[in-house]
Amino acid sequence: TWTPGNIVEEQVAAIRAQVGDKRAICGLSGGVDSAVAAALVQKAIGSQLTCVYVDHGLMRKGETEQVEKDFVAATGANLKVVDASERFLNALAGVSDPETKRKIIGREFIRVFEQAQLEILQEEGPEVAFLVQGTLYPDVVESGGGEGTANIKSHHNVGGLPDDIEFQLVEPLRQLFKDEVRLVGSELGLPDVIVQRQPFPGPGLGIRIVGEITKERLDLLREADAIARQELTAAGLDAEIWQCPVVLLADVRSVGVQGDGRTYGHPIVLRPVSSEDAMTADWTRMPYDVLAKISTRITNEVADVNRVVLDVTSKPPGTIEWE
Ligand code: XMP
Repeated sequence: TWTPGNIVEEQVAAIRAQVGDKRAICGLSGGVDSAVAAALVQKAIGSQLTCVYVDHGLMRKGETEQVEKDFVAATGANLKVVDASERFLNALAGVSDPETKRKIIGREFIRVFEQAQLEILQEEGPEVAFLVQGTLYPDVVESGGGEGTANIKSHHNVGGLPDDIEFQLVEPLRQLFKDEVRLVGSELGLPDVIVQRQPFPGPGLGIRIVGEITKERLDLLREADAIARQELTAAGLDAEIWQCPVVLLADVRSVGVQGDGRTYGHPIVLRPVSSEDAMTADWTRMPYDVLAKISTRITNEVADVNRVVLDVTSKPPGTIEWE
């Protein structure tokens, strides 16, 4: 019979058999899959695992701390945090085009992660032979499946080191669907903030600022997003809403009036959607009083925002994200 306990037991045995006395690296993204994969491997091989978290500076409020504190507290994992936010900001300076943003973020992410892998290799030696990935069953099916994808090569251009480092993949979630991964995560003692997290794109808030990305704009959006998330949770809407992107229209200004004066600030867009799989989606008919509360709080508490608008477009034709 399928129980999360049985899956944990079975995977722990399999991981031990695969990794033996070698060492493994696991990249944490802040998402459910990588956290559960890492927690499983941690349970199996303990301190033979090193987790790496690249902070690209595009996460929402409190998310990096969730990885640094809550994940580590729940699992006892070794964690290497790389603060690369300056590097990402520099690489993204002046860029507004959505696909260019994605490419830059993806490229920088791989570079920073590979650099971290190299440092771990230098510290820990050739024993580091495995890379943990949170691949799920639907990913396996989508990519044609099979065990043939069991190795991955990392290419490095740093002097004095091997050009290619070959890792074997550890993919303990390959047989699981998303809801099963959540059950396994809870079984392993991960907190709900990690296990029940709604989908969030890899490029993070970088693709929720329509316009150029700057530190100030990120901070502003982080505040607005945190307010929306707080109120949606307080209203008990987290299960009903698939995800609710909060978007800053950084290149748009509109006139407002606040206190004794006119303002010329930015709009924030709320994009609550209901969906089964993100392929199609409908805008969530959520209670007006919750929308009102979010709007009042954002315009009162976030400087430079004087308008909150609701996106009432389904997918198609609108995508869930604005970029
Ligand atoms: P769209 O906007 O295409 O989004 O309707 C569908 C789902 O995918 C997420 N999304 C991304 N996830 N990298 C990701 O890891 C991306 O570049 C990306 N773009 C969109 C989006 O949040 C939604 O859940």
